[in-house]
Amino acid sequence: MAQHRVVLLPGDGIGPEITAVARQLLEMVSERHGFQLSFEEQPIGGSAIDASGEPLPASTLEACRQADAVLLAAIGSPRFDSLPREKRPETGLLGLRAGMQLFANLRPVKIVPALIGASSLRPEVIEGVDLMVVRELTGGIYFGQPKGRIEADGEERGFNTMTYSASEVDRIARVAFDLARERRGRLCSVDKANVLDVSQLWRDRVETMAPGYGDVEVSHMYVDNAAMQLVRDPRQFDVLLTGNLFGDILSDEAAMLTGSIGMLPSASLGSDGPGLFEPVHGSAPDIAGQDKANPMAMVLSAAMMLRIGLKQSAAAADLERAVDTVLASGLRTGDLMAEGCTPVGCSAMGRALIEAL
Ligand code: IPM
Ligand code: MG
Repeated sequence: MAQHRVVLLPGDGIGPEITAVARQLLEMVSERHGFQLSFEEQPIGGSAIDASGEPLPASTLEACRQADAVLLAAIGSPRFDSLPREKRPETGLLGLRAGMQLFANLRPVKIVPALIGASSLRPEVIEGVDLMVVRELTGGIYFGQPKGRIEADGEERGFNTMTYSASEVDRIARVAFDLARERRGRLCSVDKANVLDVSQLWRDRVETMAPGYGDVEVSHMYVDNAAMQLVRDPRQFDVLLTGNLFGDILSDEAAMLTGSIGMLPSASLGSDGPGLFEPVHGSAPDIAGQDKANPMAMVLSAAMMLRIGLKQSAAAADLERAVDTVLASGLRTGDLMAEGCTPVGCSAMGRALIEAL
């Protein structure tokens, strides 16, 4: 029987509640599909700071590196906002991405028919949207040197560096080209080449690669225009390739096409080694511990883990079907609540998903 070691990182805020739901569902589908999952929970983010003073303990990173796949819920809490940057929860997540060399972040945005009314955009604009944001995750301005805060000319100055090497662009572009080839064959690379040298290099590298992918139609778009096009006509996009910062911003925007960021999963992958699977949403400290969270993005992240990380696509499809079934039955957590639907909390949503399975 196939055996997979999964490290669970519940993290902060609503993390533990949605992790509990995902774990139960994973146990069910693994039994049904004849493979074994062993789970190991590790601390990260604020909960790790509370336990050990570090947002990413060395033991957590090591366990993740040794796993077959890692499922992370969410990190972050306003309690730590005043700590120095290296002690904040977000630094733990960035350290995990860097430490596992997860340079490719895939964020699929697909409209669920039952939720078409939950979007702030008109149904005719979002109907049929099915796009994939491919975000570079271990470079760009998030990690560029030099950075910091200094005294200069009698006042304080803060700075970061947006930088990409040709090989960093090439490896993420290759992921996006390969995905476009498997999907509808369209790749839109997003940059700010009209202003930034780093973006011109990005665009040049993508252009250099394009002839090798004759079956993929390549276009380039400035990030400001892309932000507008995402809400004007999101159906024009298939694969959106972009850098770390632009991808952070555009993926939140794209998430809202679906009505709630509480629906969006993601996968972060390297060239080898285990992947990291996590919802796009954060730790939602305002509703933490109140049984109000939407566990769907976490469950869909678990599905991505099964399909991409553990090659258990039949089990993944079961989880995705359970989500569709429960939504079609009219159950909604608060973030998606609409007229005529039935409001439920996180654990009741979990029970409904089990039922649907
Ligand atoms: C995301 C988040 C993270 C990021 C934060 C929590 C560091 O916003 O995964 O999109 O900026 O990458
Ligand atoms: Mg973000």
